[in-house]
Amino acid sequence: MAMDALNQIVGNSPRMRELKQNLLQIAQAEHPVLILGESGAGKEVVARAIHALSSRREAPFVGQSCLAIPEALIESELFGYEPGAFTDARESRPGLFEQAEGGTLFLDEIGDIPLSFQKRLLRVLQEREVRRLGSTEAIPVDVRIVTATNAPIEQLVKEGGFRSDLLYRLNTFELRVPPLRQRIDDIPALVEHFLRKHGARYGIEPERPGDEVMQQLKDYPWPGNVRELENFVVRWISLGAEALIALDKRVALSFEAQDSNRRWLSMTMSEIEAEVIKMVLHDCAGNKTLAAKRLGVARKSLYNKIERYKLEL
Ligand SMILES: Nc1ncnc2c1ncn2[C@@H]1O[C@H](COP(=O)(O)OP(=O)(O)OP(=O)(O)O)[C@@H](O)[C@H]1O
Ligand SMILES: [Mg+2]
Repeated sequence: MAMDALNQIVGNSPRMRELKQNLLQIAQAEHPVLILGESGAGKEVVARAIHALSSRREAPFVGQSCLAIPEALIESELFGYEPGAFTDARESRPGLFEQAEGGTLFLDEIGDIPLSFQKRLLRVLQEREVRRLGSTEAIPVDVRIVTATNAPIEQLVKEGGFRSDLLYRLNTFELRVPPLRQRIDDIPALVEHFLRKHGARYGIEPERPGDEVMQQLKDYPWPGNVRELENFVVRWISLGAEALIALDKRVALSFEAQDSNRRWLSMTMSEIEAEVIKMVLHDCAGNKTLAAKRLGVARKSLYNKIERYKLEL
């Protein structure tokens, strides 16, 4: 059982073994867990494993990205509402806290929740009860909170964008999912995993990348981490070696200028991400919808990154 859940997390590099070890130790506890890691690194995979390894495994796992909820709806989404709470509220609806009763509530992109909402969330965590919008009745909730973010949350706290008291509520346990470039030993196993996951759909046995291609994959910095590798494998299944061209194109501009891809290794993940976004936007002639699709991120997330990195077009 435990092994099954852990095996959902592909990768046995030293960094991942350490992560799995920590995960096993904290999964059984009831305390909140904050999962940190770059975009696409596998934070949700880890969150699901925590739930599967806990005594709550038979109860619901409810996952939600805070970025995907419009700011005005975040309260009603999480806490639910009663008829008349707002114009469109015609019926009663339980929020995500109630839906996760007895189980785990996974809130992704927690670093992006509005400051105005943070205090309310903190109160719910302290009191372990929610009030639906438009109701005064307190509903007790028994939910384990797992959150994740790729934002520099300590930095956000310093800058006043995230409440420190809320952070201390959320990070009783902290797990860091290392970026793919720090565990390139995992790449062959991940490629194999994704070939099996996506190959079946095509009804053919997909070709395995040879040693040379595998080396190229290990040299690439993977700014989009495991998600980007998964996208690559999907392209590889239908395009073969041509899929590598698309991979190279993203970083080609800088490769040409610097004539060495080692340059990426001395950059921070944020710098690499900013640079890749700039290049893709340039490639897409500033079309953000297209750029978001190419980068494999939600448009809202792309807008946030453009703002965060102050990228001028
Ligand atoms: N170790 C892993 N083993 C198997 N699949 C993985 C692993 N890590 C990530 N994936 C897959 O890669 C994709 C991205 O992972 P996930 O959604 O967990 O990333 P994330 O860190 O939550 O990303 P974001 O910051 O964008 O929310 C998913 O399809 C997931 O199944
Ligand atoms: Mg996620």
